[in-house]
Amino acid sequence: MSRMKIGVLISGRGSNLEALIKATQAADYPAEIVLVISNRPGAKGLEHAHAGGIASQVIDHTAYADRATFEQALDKALRAKGVELVCLAGFMRILNADFVNAWRNRLINVHPSLLPAYKGLHTHQRVIEDGARLTGCTVHFVRPETDDGPIIIQAAVPVLTDDTEETLAARVLAYEHKVYPEAVRLIAEGATRVRGHRVQIPAATWAVEGLINPEIPGDVD
Ligand code: GRF
Repeated sequence: MSRMKIGVLISGRGSNLEALIKATQAADYPAEIVLVISNRPGAKGLEHAHAGGIASQVIDHTAYADRATFEQALDKALRAKGVELVCLAGFMRILNADFVNAWRNRLINVHPSLLPAYKGLHTHQRVIEDGARLTGCTVHFVRPETDDGPIIIQAAVPVLTDDTEETLAARVLAYEHKVYPEAVRLIAEGATRVRGHRVQIPAATWAVEGLINPEIPGDVD
């Protein structure tokens, strides 16, 4: 089986990277991580790459004159490893349209909300302040506008009355770790088709254990 080569871009903790590494360790998983890049030298996530025996590089954005030259360095490193799909996993740099368009439909991100709601930062705090009962996470193809792009997979997660930003973040994160490897699997198996702003996936391939579908009590008239 030839496995799709993926590159993972991180800036920090790297728990989504860790989930992807775990998934790729299964013999029948259709993708392998060939490179992890961090823009921060001390990123904790780099330890997961080392532990998993995966090649990693630090490409420190502060060492580059501007965003374009930093992104050229990212692009070069990814291409040198033959990367076919780039996964943003807590990568905290905005990417220019040049980079995003060069990797169109081969660049994905995980975001901790049910997009298109709650784009941007501090999603959990804003969800709680708004009194929303339901939130979640989304894996999507990246487009030049931040947190925009065709949605591949989402998990819905309830907001509980006594949630704090931390407890809600932890509940959502557990689902990020389920949906991200699943989204990569779908892409690597060739099951996704991008049509305009929508991603078509044959129904038979949907099998994410533990996705929460809220039950509606009684009849809805
Ligand atoms: C995740 O919540 C992800 O959705 C967001 O940044 C966080 C990264 O966490 N984009 P980790 O570095 O993968 O642990």
